[in-house]
Amino acid sequence: MGEEDGPVQGLDASKPNIARVYDFWLGGKNNFAADRELATRLAQWYPPWMQACQDNRAFVGRAVTWAAGHGIGQFLDLGAGLPTSPAVHDVARAVSPGARVCYVDSDPVVVRHADALLAGPEGIAAAQADLTEPGVVWDDPQVRAVIEPGEPVCLIFALVLHFLDIERARRVVAGYRSAAAPGSVFVVSVGRIDDPQMWRQFREAYTAGVAHNHDRAEVLSLLDGLDVVPPGLALAHAWRAGMTVVPDTPPGPAYVLGGVAVKRM
Ligand SMILES: C[S@@+](CC[C@H](N)C(=O)[O-])C[C@H]1O[C@@H](n2cnc3c(N)ncnc32)[C@H](O)[C@@H]1O
Repeated sequence: MGEEDGPVQGLDASKPNIARVYDFWLGGKNNFAADRELATRLAQWYPPWMQACQDNRAFVGRAVTWAAGHGIGQFLDLGAGLPTSPAVHDVARAVSPGARVCYVDSDPVVVRHADALLAGPEGIAAAQADLTEPGVVWDDPQVRAVIEPGEPVCLIFALVLHFLDIERARRVVAGYRSAAAPGSVFVVSVGRIDDPQMWRQFREAYTAGVAHNHDRAEVLSLLDGLDVVPPGLALAHAWRAGMTVVPDTPPGPAYVLGGVAVKRM
C-alpha cells in the first residue's frame, strides 16, 4: 500500500487499522509498518490465528457457493475488508455467472481499493457505509445500483460483528432481517477466544478497533428468527452446508465460528 498519488482521505498509516491488520494476517500486501507490528505481535502469542483467518475466508467461500447454488443472485458483503482472492463475486459467479455483488465498508480506503480492484464489471459495486445503519445501507446509491431490495439477497457479516457489543450486533442483524426479502441468506462469522487471559491480553493490545468476545450462545442469537442451515453454528473450518455433524473441538483457544441461516417468511 502506498501514498504515491498524494494523501488519501481517511488514511493514517501511523496507526493500526482493522482492515490492514487483517490483510496482513491473510498474507496480503495492503498494510503498513504499524499494522504489521501489531499483527505480528498478536500472531506471535497464538500463531494458528493466521490459519483461522484463512479458515474464515474459506468458510465465506463455501457459504457463498451454497447461497448461489440455492438461487441467490445478489450478495451484500458488509464489512467487506480489503480486496482478497478469491473475492466474493469470483466465488458467486463460478456458480451463477450473473451474480451481483456490492462490497460495503465504513473505511474509505477499503472502499477505494474495492472500487479500483473489484468494481467495474457490470453488477459489481463498492459502497462506503456504516453497516450498523441498515436503512442507510439499503438506500445507498452504489448498493441500489446492483442490489434489488425486493429480491432475496445473501447478506455477509464476516469477522465484523465482534466489533459491536452483542445487543447492538443483534439489533443490526435484526434490522437487515426485517428489510430483507423472504429467501434471503445470512452468513455470519465471528472471532472467539476461550482463554480469559489470552482474551484480556488481546483486548488490551488490539488498538485497531474495539473488539468483543461473543460466546457461542451469543453468536447463535444473532441468527434468531431465521432458519439455521445444518450444521448450525460451527467452527468455521469445519462448517459444511447440509452436514448435520461436523468436528466440534476447537483447534485451540482462539478460532472463528461461522453459521448460515435463511429468512423464510
Ligand atoms: C476483519 S475485517 C473482515 C473482512 C471480511 N469481511 C472477511 O471476513 O474477510 C473487518 C472489516 O469490517 C469493516 N468494518 C468495521 N466496522 C464496520 C462498520 N460499522 N460498518 C462497515 N464496515 C465496518 C472494517 O473496516 C474491516 O474492513
